[in-house]
Amino acid sequence: MTESNIFTQYLKKRNSLVKNKKILQSSYVPENLPHRDDKINEIVEIIAPSLERDKPSNILIIGKTGTGKTAVMNYIGKELKKADPSEESCTFIYINCEIVDTPYGILYNIANQIISDPSRKIPFTGWSVDKILSELTSYIEEKNKIFIIVLDEIDRSFQKNGDDIFYYLTSINDELKNSTVSIIGITNNTKFTDFLSTRIKSRLGEEKIIFPPYSVEQLQDILYERAKEAFEEGILSEGVIPYCAALTAQDGGDARRALDLLRMSADIAERNGDKNISEAHVKSAKNKVEMDAVAEIVRTLNMQSKMVLMSIIKNTEEGQSTMITGDVYSTYKVLCEITGTTVITQRRVADLISELDMLGIIHARVKAFGRAGRTKEIELSAPKNIADLLKSDELFKELEHYKPPKQTTLM
Ligand SMILES: Nc1ncnc2c1ncn2[C@@H]1O[C@H](COP(=O)(O)OP(=O)(O)OP(=O)(O)O)[C@@H](O)[C@H]1O
Ligand SMILES: [Mg+2]
Repeated sequence: MTESNIFTQYLKKRNSLVKNKKILQSSYVPENLPHRDDKINEIVEIIAPSLERDKPSNILIIGKTGTGKTAVMNYIGKELKKADPSEESCTFIYINCEIVDTPYGILYNIANQIISDPSRKIPFTGWSVDKILSELTSYIEEKNKIFIIVLDEIDRSFQKNGDDIFYYLTSINDELKNSTVSIIGITNNTKFTDFLSTRIKSRLGEEKIIFPPYSVEQLQDILYERAKEAFEEGILSEGVIPYCAALTAQDGGDARRALDLLRMSADIAERNGDKNISEAHVKSAKNKVEMDAVAEIVRTLNMQSKMVLMSIIKNTEEGQSTMITGDVYSTYKVLCEITGTTVITQRRVADLISELDMLGIIHARVKAFGRAGRTKEIELSAPKNIADLLKSDELFKELEHYKPPKQTTLM
């Protein structure tokens, strides 16, 4: 028994609704991946020959974020290891190119996962890419087997270095007689192949596998499966999972977001000291996620855009939930005057309004308005408390008590 200490009381008071927090984290790889059997089978069929030392085709896996690409490859890697525990026929190597993104870094990582002989390890820096490549090639050749190299998030390396790394890796095979290298590239950029040179495209994309976004029902199954492991029975109210799934499916079927939402709902319920997790907690979690995203966008806006946004907020706060560009501009001019900010033209303000619309903070619909020509009907789409984010900005302190007069209305 641990002696009582200053933490004891806190720990007792804290009510934990989650059996094991790790299970809801996105780094956790579950034993079972619902709705990915077909993709797993497709990949296994392609790489199975490696267990008989036959070279499998290179594979390119494409799918939007959170569609299970990394989870599936990790799972297959583990199973491959079970099929060939001493790696006699086949070695599986996984590299995340978001973490290691230079050709040197990638080759260095591959080499040091493969090379067991300490005297032949490759130094962290100092060698040329050609030297590392030739050492790696001769080591691979000596091993007389298949190497499957998974390059996750390959678009990251591509953005920085073009297709050099694919060229190096796919050309290793030209030098090999006894061993071969197969590449499995993973990307969430659906246009990735458009950027590759024809030569790399045909080499890398010998087999292309698409991971589609999950449907509402599929997200529900994934969440149910995870919830079984993570929560004691009766903790989750019935509607929680369908609600998390529905909210996430609207946003593109991303399992990571669905899990994040469930985890955050549990956190909120715990912090409130509630005994169950309900749909209200999911709603709060969703608001928090949206607010965080909006806060990030607002933080990076330039001063003029903030001023335009503030004008829209001020009008909204005065009961005008929809307005036209002219209404925004009238308020904008006054706000600039109070704060001593340079006034830009209505034309430029209209451009900034379009930008805010694209960022999803406001809605701006074009509305034909007879003689006045085309104008826009504008309303705030971000959560109401977005104003607090702006008000914390030094510049807006002086505007706290300003109330714009009622403007021309759309009615
Ligand atoms: N079919 C599934 N069953 C259970 N969990 C899943 C499934 N698909 C994805 N997940 C979980 O969702 C989260 C995101 O999945 P994963 O990391 O594989 O996405 P990804 O396609 O690699 O996304 P990204 O392109 O952003 O890297 C992980 O926690 C993963 O365990
Ligand atoms: Mg991934």
